Amino acid sequence: MALFFFVLSIDKNNSPENMPLSVIILAAGKGSRMKSSRPKVIHELAGEPMLQHVVNTSKQLHPEQILVVIGHEAIQVEEVMQGQGLVFVEQREQLGTGHAVLQCHDLISTGNDILVLYGDVPMINVETLETLIEEGKNDHVVCLLSFIAENPTGYGRILREHGQVKAIVEEKDASDEIRKIKESNSGIVFIKGNEYASLLADLDNDNAQQEYYLTDVVKHAVNKKQSVAAVICTDETEVLGVNNQMQLAHLESIFRRKKAEALMLNGVKIVDPDRIDIRGSIKAGENVVIDINCVFEGNVELEDGVSIGANCVIKDSKIGSASEILPMSVIENSEIGSHNNIGPFARIRPETVTFDSAKIGNFVEVKKSIIGLGSKVNHLTYIGDTEMGANVNIGAGTITCNYDGAYKHKTIIEDNVFVGSDTQLVAPVKVTQGSTIGAGSTITKDTPAGQLSFSRAKQVSIKGWERPRKNKLEK
Ligand code: UD1
Ligand code: CA
Repeated sequence: MALFFFVLSIDKNNSPENMPLSVIILAAGKGSRMKSSRPKVIHELAGEPMLQHVVNTSKQLHPEQILVVIGHEAIQVEEVMQGQGLVFVEQREQLGTGHAVLQCHDLISTGNDILVLYGDVPMINVETLETLIEEGKNDHVVCLLSFIAENPTGYGRILREHGQVKAIVEEKDASDEIRKIKESNSGIVFIKGNEYASLLADLDNDNAQQEYYLTDVVKHAVNKKQSVAAVICTDETEVLGVNNQMQLAHLESIFRRKKAEALMLNGVKIVDPDRIDIRGSIKAGENVVIDINCVFEGNVELEDGVSIGANCVIKDSKIGSASEILPMSVIENSEIGSHNNIGPFARIRPETVTFDSAKIGNFVEVKKSIIGLGSKVNHLTYIGDTEMGANVNIGAGTITCNYDGAYKHKTIIEDNVFVGSDTQLVAPVKVTQGSTIGAGSTITKDTPAGQLSFSRAKQVSIKGWERPRKNKLEK
């Protein structure tokens, strides 16, 4: 039997043509309000660094290059994000968003349009970015993404004249009048190739924060009579930024809710969408039911008719059709066949494969093992490094002794074996086809096919034996 695992991979550039686009992700800031020694952008949202979400979304645009501007704790960020073909650009001093983009200048392929994203704005949708790029390419030099903020405090405001965007004014530089404007800058902006360089060259730090504001490209473009446009993002949650742990938790709840809603719209019955945690993705078939308080991590696939009981944790696993995972079970990096019954209180550890109609009951731990067709391991058992055939019955309290203190060894249990309760199978050992093991046995040698094997001290009874009794004077 071959173990096979589905490799979970992120779509790499799978389009033959890359866009003449350079995505720049700003991630150099300290994020001091996170009150953490880890840089803000690698704090996790839905099980992945915030910055990873932005990178994943960027990749879907098939840009020619993705540059990440790092500064604060740059090494930590680079380490977490390595191996993805990203270009890291160090901004030693954080002198503003415009200054950050300027650091990329020599690395941007000539003529490429640029799209600036923020490492701490992780929920942005690829469709929104596509709309922005399309609008930008449609003859605008600068095209920014704005939104109507419920509470615009802290954001740059979009100044318009006769509907035309004229400037972005930062909160700290804004008059009371301007502060009343609700149309706010998300920070995300598209700038036409060949134009951004001269626009950036115009930036100065003559403002309240003495920073080189990227937002000033709008003002300069307008002065040069270049066309500036804004695309209004209608879903404010897409452009929410993270500055502290509360905002991160808020995004986490939005993320969770969106994932739950998408599943429900695809027909999954989620008993309570406020009590599910999805830290990755779930692919679900028809008639899937998920009870309360389940946690899903990584990539999980639930085939038709699967039901997941309350309080289960399932990570990077596939559950076959019509299988029932009973409450309090934990399944990690495993493949469960069809019509299985798992749990309650089962722990399925990595690299386990169960064939159809298998049963794994309460307080059973299975690790790196194959459970064959219709086989049952119903109670209080440890199965590790085991290859089990079909139609096997494992009695309660059975242990595969797979570890000698230095090495792991394999246990082979062939078809139609019956193992009596409280048996230890000392690996390496083979329980051959059709054998029966008497309860309470310690099996150290391969068992012959079709025979009964047991290793058990002979039962003795002692006549007239008395139980020890406590002396009554003793306290
Ligand atoms: C910025 C925008 C503001 C917008 C808001 C949206 C400017 C001047 N202002 O303000 O109009 O409403 O975002 O959230 O652009 N960064 C660097 N290097 C720097 C400075 C910042 O990489 O030198 C990064 C930060 O890590 C962060 C992002 O750029 O990811 C935004 O910086 P931040 O200082 O938070 O800008 P805001 O003042 O919020
Ligand atoms: Ca900010």
